[in-house]
Amino acid sequence: MKEINSKISGFYKLSIEERQKLLTELYDLKKEEQELLKNLGYFTSTQLDTIIENVIGSYNLPIGIACNFKINNKDYLIPMVIEEPSVIAAASNSAKFARKHGGFFSDKVKSVMISQIQITQVKDLKSAKEQLISHKKEILERANEQDPVLNKLGGGAFDIEIREISTRKGKMLIVHLLVDVLDAMGANVVNTMAEAVSPYIEKFSKGIIYLRIVSNLAIHRTVKSRATFDKELLGGEEVVEGIMNAYEFALADPYRATTHNKGIMNGIISLTIATGNDTRAIEAGAHAYAALSGQYKPLTKFEIDSNGNLVGEIEIPLALGIIGGMTKIHPMARLALKILNVKNAEELCQVAAAVGLAQNVAALRALASEGIQKGHMALHSKNIAKLAGVPDDLIDEVAKKLVDANKVRVDYAKEILENILKKT
Ligand code: MEV
Repeated sequence: MKEINSKISGFYKLSIEERQKLLTELYDLKKEEQELLKNLGYFTSTQLDTIIENVIGSYNLPIGIACNFKINNKDYLIPMVIEEPSVIAAASNSAKFARKHGGFFSDKVKSVMISQIQITQVKDLKSAKEQLISHKKEILERANEQDPVLNKLGGGAFDIEIREISTRKGKMLIVHLLVDVLDAMGANVVNTMAEAVSPYIEKFSKGIIYLRIVSNLAIHRTVKSRATFDKELLGGEEVVEGIMNAYEFALADPYRATTHNKGIMNGIISLTIATGNDTRAIEAGAHAYAALSGQYKPLTKFEIDSNGNLVGEIEIPLALGIIGGMTKIHPMARLALKILNVKNAEELCQVAAAVGLAQNVAALRALASEGIQKGHMALHSKNIAKLAGVPDDLIDEVAKKLVDANKVRVDYAKEILENILKKT
């Protein structure tokens, strides 16, 4: 392939079609590759162009449904967008194990976000704090002027917290503006408020303000969900014991805790994408919360009840919204929210936490019994067969042979195909 020069002046000014043409010339794209770029799915080029910059096309992923979920006595079909096989099947299974004991029970959660305002070079920290506290009402009023609708609906900025931190550039005062963002994810609204109140905060604190931005450690938006997973459905006492051992492993070892939490996020992020929410905000908040004690810990905890069943609980900050961002713009996100049938952001968070817990139990159950690869391989083997050029009508047969031989590899799929073809 010829070398390219990535300095393309005015790339952002081109239309999608012009960018596609440019790429076609640069990379000598084949007809089917050009078609791939042109296929925008359910988007129009105008829609795509208003979502991000420098758009060249649209990118598809599968969306599936996890079944069996009962959360706070209501049944849900969970839309999930993910590229990894087994995740949706595992969540559905796990939800079935909990369903026998009433399903998941998620606590109430307030949609409170934090916006941080960084004040540097404060000469008199004590007096700055006093001034800020005595002008709290005024600061909150300024903030709420930015979003009268939110305020009218019962949300808005309602408090400030002042923290003093030590840095290599000296002490700083950090003001947290606490905002009830109701059904939004909330980053936009709290950023706007923080910028608007900054001149006042600067005046009262007599310092210099730099950053004014949401904190993705949404500690006031933490969700708790718990469920009892049936011992027999899990596979018996030994499997439950295995899960408890896996939990102790994660508690003691950050290397394992990271993977443990990755399993939780398989579920939560699939739902986050499906509903058009910000996956990076959710990931960042979850992992920071996991590390808050100073050691990275699992986001779930487990115990065995008097009947030998597994009782699990998850605690995780979740800044998920049902309005704003992509939630209403993305047609599939809109449909996913309709299928999910949640009435507000709180309910979405309650569902997401339950999905995370279910996903975690499913992974630990597989790891503590037959291992994770068996489930993965069933679908993976079909992809491998496809990659090896196996025709559609022979995929199932070849995939089964790959799994049975425990050799899920392209070269072996080709060998099986040759043997089948020889016989016919
Ligand atoms: C794979 O995507 C997720 C797991 O690794 C989670 C875990 O180990 O708990 C199976």
